[in-house]
Amino acid sequence: MITSEDRMVPNSLIRTQGYVNGKWVSAASGATFDVTNPATGEVIASVTDMDQSDVRQAIEAAHAAWPAFRDLTAKERSSMLKKWFALILENKDELARLMTMECGKVITESRGEVDYGASFIEWFAEEARRTYGDVIPANTRDKRLVTIKQSIGVVATITPWNFPLAMITRKVGPALAAGCPVIVKPPSETPLTALAVSELAEKAGFPPGVYNTITTSKNAEVGLELCENSKVRKLSFTGSTATGKLLMKQCASNLKKISLELGGNAPFIVFEDADLDAAVKGAMASKFRNSGQTCVCVNRLYVHDAVYNAFVEKLSKAVGALQVGNGLDAQSQIGPLINEKGLDKVKRHVADALAKGAHVHMGGHELEGLFFQPTILTDATADMIIAQDEVFGPVAPIFRFTDEQEVIRQANDTPYGLASYFYSKDINRCWRVAEALDYGMVGINEGMISTEVAPFGGVKESGIGREGSKYGMDYFTEIKYMCFGGM
Ligand code: SIN
Repeated sequence: MITSEDRMVPNSLIRTQGYVNGKWVSAASGATFDVTNPATGEVIASVTDMDQSDVRQAIEAAHAAWPAFRDLTAKERSSMLKKWFALILENKDELARLMTMECGKVITESRGEVDYGASFIEWFAEEARRTYGDVIPANTRDKRLVTIKQSIGVVATITPWNFPLAMITRKVGPALAAGCPVIVKPPSETPLTALAVSELAEKAGFPPGVYNTITTSKNAEVGLELCENSKVRKLSFTGSTATGKLLMKQCASNLKKISLELGGNAPFIVFEDADLDAAVKGAMASKFRNSGQTCVCVNRLYVHDAVYNAFVEKLSKAVGALQVGNGLDAQSQIGPLINEKGLDKVKRHVADALAKGAHVHMGGHELEGLFFQPTILTDATADMIIAQDEVFGPVAPIFRFTDEQEVIRQANDTPYGLASYFYSKDINRCWRVAEALDYGMVGINEGMISTEVAPFGGVKESGIGREGSKYGMDYFTEIKYMCFGGM
């Protein structure tokens, strides 16, 4: 049960001003915007609403802080990151409550996100010290050729509401490790977690100007400044493909380096030789994580005709047991959708599927406020909107197939290419299908693939670049080639 204490806004980490050049500051205009709890509609806090002029100051501060920060030793930057990592874990419960209140995520998942988000900081604190260059065998006797990796410069990050903490740390962790000052622009739905994390960054000892957070509801204006200001040398964005394309166009004006982690349309294939219990477990983990609101959530379940009914029955049992409710209640497994727009999209996708011949096997309706029933749709087909566009909600459409080549073709028949999943016990098929799926990530007999140690990212219109892993630092450094002559 939720106690009245649970409902209270956690106090010690709450901040409502932006963090610029080592100071907590309000927008010059004095404007604010409200942050609401999607589970209740209550206003949690009013946060300062910064605009282009405020962002420019943050960019100037970050740019001024760059030379001294990049000149620190990797070990010095690593120590700050380790301290930040420890502070985040020390404040796990409070951060998780704040996150649940502003994005609706159920509390167990919010706690999991604090661990997940912190893991990127720890990982890149370690990677900071391994940013090696090369010694290249020279092309002539009198030369010596060397490469070094240098910090790229000021990094701007634009992050989404579905992972209010982890999408910041996955970008900022490697940036800081590489010696880049950062400007964090969280979404207007979830600025409080971002500000709480900034407070902990301040305590961790990052020098003024190195870590900046801009809160705003003026996404277009602030985004444009971050893209067009040439003192920002790199933009890292997670969000929709449409916004990613716009940002890329805007960054072209100064050829800014850009990393994009965009939308997906993840297929989940259950072959006739799959372990069905394992497949159900994987589908539940991936489809219903954050109430279906992640870019790697299963969007299309393809089930072989021979096991279709058995799979639907097993999945229905698991889905029927899901508890829907306010994320602060420890029993809840499915929270609200983020806003009306998100709810409308889910309703539109379901209505379109039903009009085109799908059947509601379970759920199918909205509940009070922004909640939607965990839903299974059977007899889904390729002409439905839900087959082409990620639903971003707790709806599982199940497609029927009979042939391996055909299901691979259908799985790849999308402009997106982020995550994909399949279940089979045949090792030959596992290699064959994994290689044939046109995606940046493939879960083989596994529904949970995200980790700091592996590269996260997509192909086609799902993005550019990889986050996390040993590759993650590369996007925040430039390779410099040095040729020593006259040796
Ligand atoms: C996302 O939905 O953008 C991120 C999901 C993840 O990191 O697992």
